[in-house]
Amino acid sequence: MTQFPKGFLWGGATAANQYEGAWQADGKGESTADHLLGGTFETPRRFVEDATQPGYFPSHDASDGYHHTEEDIKLMAGMGFKLYRLSIAWTRIFPNGDEKEPNRAGLDYYRHVFELCHQYGIEPLVTISHYEMPYHLTKAYGGWGNRKVIDFYVNYATTLFKEFSGLVKYWLTFNEINIGFMLGGYMSLGLPTPDGSSPLLGEQNDAAIQAALQGLHHQFVASAKAVQIGHAIDPNNLIGCMIAGQVTYPLTASPEDVLLAQQTNELNNFYCGDVQVRGAYPDFAKRYWTKHHVVLDIDETDAETLAAGKVDFYTFSYYSSSAETADQSKRESTGNMSFGVKNPYLKYSEWGWSTDPSGLRWYLNEVNSRYQIPMMVVENGLGAVDEKTADGKIYDDYRIDYLKQHLAAMSDALADGVNLIGYTTWGWIDIVSAGTGQMAKRYGFVYVDRNDDQQGDYARTPKKSYYWYKDVIANNGSDLDPDVRY
Ligand code: BG6
Repeated sequence: MTQFPKGFLWGGATAANQYEGAWQADGKGESTADHLLGGTFETPRRFVEDATQPGYFPSHDASDGYHHTEEDIKLMAGMGFKLYRLSIAWTRIFPNGDEKEPNRAGLDYYRHVFELCHQYGIEPLVTISHYEMPYHLTKAYGGWGNRKVIDFYVNYATTLFKEFSGLVKYWLTFNEINIGFMLGGYMSLGLPTPDGSSPLLGEQNDAAIQAALQGLHHQFVASAKAVQIGHAIDPNNLIGCMIAGQVTYPLTASPEDVLLAQQTNELNNFYCGDVQVRGAYPDFAKRYWTKHHVVLDIDETDAETLAAGKVDFYTFSYYSSSAETADQSKRESTGNMSFGVKNPYLKYSEWGWSTDPSGLRWYLNEVNSRYQIPMMVVENGLGAVDEKTADGKIYDDYRIDYLKQHLAAMSDALADGVNLIGYTTWGWIDIVSAGTGQMAKRYGFVYVDRNDDQQGDYARTPKKSYYWYKDVIANNGSDLDPDVRY
């Protein structure tokens, strides 16, 4: 019997550039995501200068969420959602990023979304920046590498806090803030990318690490400023951090592997959590800088800003775990946006991601004992190829199975004593994959009729998992094996 607390926040998540489409509607500017071509598991996504050239740019139309607002919110309400995690496209509000005044049409669009959510009793959880920024800020300023971008972000965040006071109380400053420096800087940090190179996999040399960590420092400062401003504008605001929850096990019990796994965990998770939750860089970060000859340009007031801008809650994504070994002969590539070496005890998806619910329990306990603040799992799900059967339905029992295992792990972690208050599955509706740019990697409870060949009319069809999740929410997670009618 699984147990979730009363008032647990059940829901699902999307990100603007992966869901909304309508990339030029109502005054929206070009975002960094709009310059990424689609890829596949084998072929990485590519950055191009000209976002209007022929080719498949997944963010341009995505799932056409922008033109399905009412229908989609009704579908979420049909499952009984309490929480909807979405991101705001910075370029709908400030098309170039450095304007003083916002684009009214962009604000009106999100106001409408939030008002509709409230009509259905759904609380929005807003990510202020999810893997995109105005393209102009990367061209004219060099993205997050430039300290000036902090002010542009603060102006943007302040605009949102003022405009949506009373409509939004849960905020996240940056999506997966640790990913920019782990995987290279274009997608998260807007750092220039050499022509044709992968926007994801940055070179792991000291110069690249220096550039990414400087950009990350600016994001930390921006986040801390936003937290203070958000609290001042509306004391009801709860503002959280968002980390890619990476769990790394030692491949063997060899002390070298154990040490390496510990260091990898420090780097992946706690570097970022420590700064945003505790308000200061941990000793580990300083050792890492020395090792890689990193000298950060830190303003004399930055330390005070970080200390004064601690987040209210900790959120993270969790999909899979990996393993590490000091034995170089055992290294091989895993999946896109995944790390380390393969764990022989786990099964892997078509995209090379392991399924490891125990890792989620481990991570929840780890974060809980380190920070003791409320937590939410704001991304979790299975990206898979879904096939419609002759009756026009999608029997995605594999997705139900994945989610069931992770909910059971969360219930175990709750029994362990962790302070988990909410859960939003990733891609509650089919959206474009961030890593590969594919529609074929589907996560949703709702199928979207759109394919990588740009065919399909965006029609929405609930999958079997839609009805399963609806039942689970209705019984507050006490029965993960409801008798699903589909
Ligand atoms: C997270 C991101 O890393 O993983 C999402 O926050 C992303 O934006 C998700 O979509 C799943 O990754 P992918 O590559 O399967 O879309």
